[in-house]
Amino acid sequence: METQPLKDKIALVTGSASGIGRGLALRYALEGARVACCDINLAGAEETADSVRASGRGSMAVKVDVTRSSEVEEAFRLVHEKWKRIDILTNSAGIIKAQFLVEMPEETWDAIINVNLKGTFLTMREAAKYMIEQKSGKIVNISSKSGKKGGLWLGAYCASKFGIIGLSQSVAMDLAPYKINVNVICPGNVFSTPMWDILDKEYSRKLGVPPEQVRKMYVEKVPLGRECTVEDVANVAVFLASSYSDYMTGQAINVTGGQEVH
Ligand SMILES: NC(=O)c1ccc[n+]([C@@H]2O[C@H](COP(=O)([O-])OP(=O)(O)OC[C@H]3O[C@@H](n4cnc5c(N)ncnc54)[C@H](O)[C@@H]3O)[C@@H](O)[C@H]2O)c1
Repeated sequence: METQPLKDKIALVTGSASGIGRGLALRYALEGARVACCDINLAGAEETADSVRASGRGSMAVKVDVTRSSEVEEAFRLVHEKWKRIDILTNSAGIIKAQFLVEMPEETWDAIINVNLKGTFLTMREAAKYMIEQKSGKIVNISSKSGKKGGLWLGAYCASKFGIIGLSQSVAMDLAPYKINVNVICPGNVFSTPMWDILDKEYSRKLGVPPEQVRKMYVEKVPLGRECTVEDVANVAVFLASSYSDYMTGQAINVTGGQEVH
């Protein structure tokens, strides 16, 4: 492999104020990219951008709510104005809530579908405008193992994550003539993320076990016998964001330690 597969690329990462998105922004920088850190949480995005700069790469922080098309348009405009290209879009912005069907308020459904699915649509639509002009681009969307298999109390989340895969397969066809690759990563359980601070409590109620036992139960389902790390996801994301994946589009890659194989 080249020492820096993303050398001089311009990457825009949503959800990069924390968790997986932050990890991907930092890793992209390590692999040579300049990174626009986009998130609804501007303070967090700025922290990530500072860390990117500390690693010696250009960075900027942009406040964007991915559910609002005007904010998405403005974010891409700002990034393009600064760096004149957009080579990589990675969508990591996402929310989750575990709720039994009859207890799930319509607002929960709307919020999850809006951020996870509509947000992915809006950002891809905007990225495509620039990438079509360039006749090149890499889009990497973060779905989940919940994008391949339904789960207890996860109706809205799974619907959004299955949706990301269908949307990405279709958009991959739309954009193939322009040499734009669209692929998806389906991570397993990444316990180091803030998302799991919420899930410990919700899954404890769902599974009827104390919160401290929840993670152990999840790891027991993984053939490779450990949780997923941000680094595991980043290894695949760098590959999909680089020229090494030029002949792949419309794929949804499991990074689940063997837990999901389809
Ligand atoms: N943590 C896991 O175990 C896991 C597993 C599989 C998939 N995922 C997916 O990975 C992605 C990242 O999750 P994470 O674990 O890093 O969680 P996280 O909560 O740390 O990160 C999500 C980020 O999205 C941002 N965000 C939320 N709503 C937004 C909006 N409307 N506009 C812009 N930004 C918004 C948040 O501010 C946050 O920074 C999500 O799509 C999630 O579904 C997570």
